[in-house]
Amino acid sequence: MTQQEQLVEDLKKVVCTAAAAAKDFVGTGEKEAGDQAAVDAMRTAFEQAHMDAVVRVGEGEKDEAPMLYVGEKLGNEKGLKLDIAVDPVEGTSLMAAGKPNAIAVVAATDQGGFWDAGSAYYMKKIVVGAAAKGVIDINKSTKENLQAIAKASNQQVSDLKIYVLDKPRHVQLRKEIEACGATVDLHPEGDVIGSVLALLPDSEVDALMGIGGAPEAVITAAAVLALGGDMQGQLAPQQGEEREGLLSEGTDIDKVLMLHDLVKTDWAVFAAAGVTTGELLDGPKETASQEMLAEYLMIGPGSGQIDNDFYSVPTD
Ligand code: FBP
Repeated sequence: MTQQEQLVEDLKKVVCTAAAAAKDFVGTGEKEAGDQAAVDAMRTAFEQAHMDAVVRVGEGEKDEAPMLYVGEKLGNEKGLKLDIAVDPVEGTSLMAAGKPNAIAVVAATDQGGFWDAGSAYYMKKIVVGAAAKGVIDINKSTKENLQAIAKASNQQVSDLKIYVLDKPRHVQLRKEIEACGATVDLHPEGDVIGSVLALLPDSEVDALMGIGGAPEAVITAAAVLALGGDMQGQLAPQQGEEREGLLSEGTDIDKVLMLHDLVKTDWAVFAAAGVTTGELLDGPKETASQEMLAEYLMIGPGSGQIDNDFYSVPTD
């Protein structure tokens, strides 16, 4: 097995064990406890992983997160030197409410390859699949971007479906999309899954637009790179405190972050497993023989490489 094949196997286990650990909290309203169970399971799976890795995007700084904090070392210190981005439950509210599209997700690339989110929490993003690579421009209007995406993918603007988070900050964006005749695909949470839907040629979603998490952008970028899609981001602090934090770190808030700013290397791998059953992935299921099966989606590390299957989660 090559080191990259080993990495794929390790990350499959990491996300599937996290999803299985969060399963007991689906629909219970216990957002923090479910997230913690997934963090613990992910951390244990990483301990056995054949890698010399560091958490670049994690659960927060060391003093606020006991595990999977930014800078934490992961793996058995053998194998590939990696940057890891983790979100043990992406869509914690979805999990707690038993709603579709909560996932356990990680991404990896060579050490030093992922953008450091610092204290950034929110980012404006546009994510598109390979058909619209090179035509988006986050500084242009919604209309201009929709026209460019439609032209590049041989569609009418009225054929486009745009994934948007259902947040008060997106009222204007929704109006702009609808004024162009395109469809808004509104979801309460989950912009990583929305981005993956935009990337997959078989899905009905053509793009993700709007403001979501900045750490989520790094995880998303791994899938974008592996699938040859495109993405641009721009920090979008929603509160004064976030803006002040960024300015004190010397961050250029207005800089347009291109795909190669978010992932600076030429390969990356993205691994997700369903926590709740949603558009792309099913939640973990126990079979009649008490085997726990989690559905995963691996994207990369090879260009265009996709694997979607079930994984039998070890119960030890
Ligand atoms: P969490 O699992 O951390 O709650 O993230 C869910 C999510 O919807 C992300 O997909 C998205 O990037 C972010 O929250 C948006 O943040 P907010 O809910 O604060 O608008």
